[in-house]
Amino acid sequence: MNHYAVVHCGQLVPIKGPIVNDGAFIVKDGKIDWVGPTDAVPADLPTVDGEGKVVTPGLVDAHTHTVFAANRVEEFEFRSRGATYQEIAENGGGIRSTMEATRQATDLEEQVRAHQLRLVRNGTTTFETKTGYGLSPKLELQHLDLADAGVATVRKTFLGAHALPPEFEGDVNGYISALIQVLPEAKAKGASAVDAFIEPGYFTPDAIRPYLEAARSLGLGIHLHVDQLGPHQGAQFAAEMQATTADHLEFTDESGIRALMRAGVTPVLLPASVYGLGKEKYPDAKAMMKAGMAFCLATDYNPGSSPTSSLPFVMGLACRYMGMSPAQALVACTMIPSAVLGLQEQKGSIEVGFDADFVIWPYKDYREIAYWIGDVLPERVAIAGKFV
Ligand code: NIG
Ligand code: FE
Repeated sequence: MNHYAVVHCGQLVPIKGPIVNDGAFIVKDGKIDWVGPTDAVPADLPTVDGEGKVVTPGLVDAHTHTVFAANRVEEFEFRSRGATYQEIAENGGGIRSTMEATRQATDLEEQVRAHQLRLVRNGTTTFETKTGYGLSPKLELQHLDLADAGVATVRKTFLGAHALPPEFEGDVNGYISALIQVLPEAKAKGASAVDAFIEPGYFTPDAIRPYLEAARSLGLGIHLHVDQLGPHQGAQFAAEMQATTADHLEFTDESGIRALMRAGVTPVLLPASVYGLGKEKYPDAKAMMKAGMAFCLATDYNPGSSPTSSLPFVMGLACRYMGMSPAQALVACTMIPSAVLGLQEQKGSIEVGFDADFVIWPYKDYREIAYWIGDVLPERVAIAGKFV
């Protein structure tokens, strides 16, 4: 079926444009061909019955780590007894332990595919995903090849600078130089951006600057993990580097927010990683909204801080702890991330000419996507007009 209408959507939430009650849209050759009320749909088209339910665009997740093996359930239990993320990392856990599991896995491709299918099952039809658990120039490049399992639209980010691998212990600059050398190849393998974890114990602004400058001169975008574990002027650094996005920002204050705004850097907020680490300090979305900034919400799907593939869960956290409304949260999981990923003409909205990526939810009111906790799953997900 490549030409059909979805009819009787109780609430069609196109994102750009008002909600249509008893809404409908026509899908033709994988694209949205028309949007309007059900009673205006031509009678001769095959139909899919929306059954009075909520229909939204497929969700867009601007920050995920899906190229990893195994999990870190032991650390989860350590944290439940009071250990911190940093203490665990200093004792051989953390990113390096997933690096070891990922290097050893013989079925990494299947594991990546399983992670990405989980995202789709939760209503995400486009996502950014990072390498970062190979931690050698060679493995990071190999992981770029695995980063798109072919189940959704993927934007790939090279995160060689996630943590210092044991082979380069005591030689941050040596590792950075080795990464810089493979950036052209990363680009050739489809990376559209680079990322780095800027935090004490990981990478400092001064160490990482040459890597970001090399990336920029190749035309790669820059995403940065900043101000996650403490107030380290990471937002100011992201502004200085003219990053596309500054991600996390739990400890960013008003001056950091102003710096991002002036530099046109889009925040990507990851409340599930705050929740996942059992912390209480969420990023200051209210200050960002007050400043009139657009920002994304994303899962940060990863085995350490944020083992969730659910954007609805993230939306629920943003509404409960960050002062966002359900409508703002939905925009932050559709339209804004589609623009950040350069897909503003194709994704994140149900409008004529856009890709027919959409979700039918088992609800009557779109606010329920953020309201229910723990069991929010789509009824049906379509990518390019095909139900998956
Ligand atoms: O975004 N902060 C760095 N990266 C991840 C955590 C990765 C891990 O612990 O494996 C994050 O929270
Ligand atoms: Fe992350």
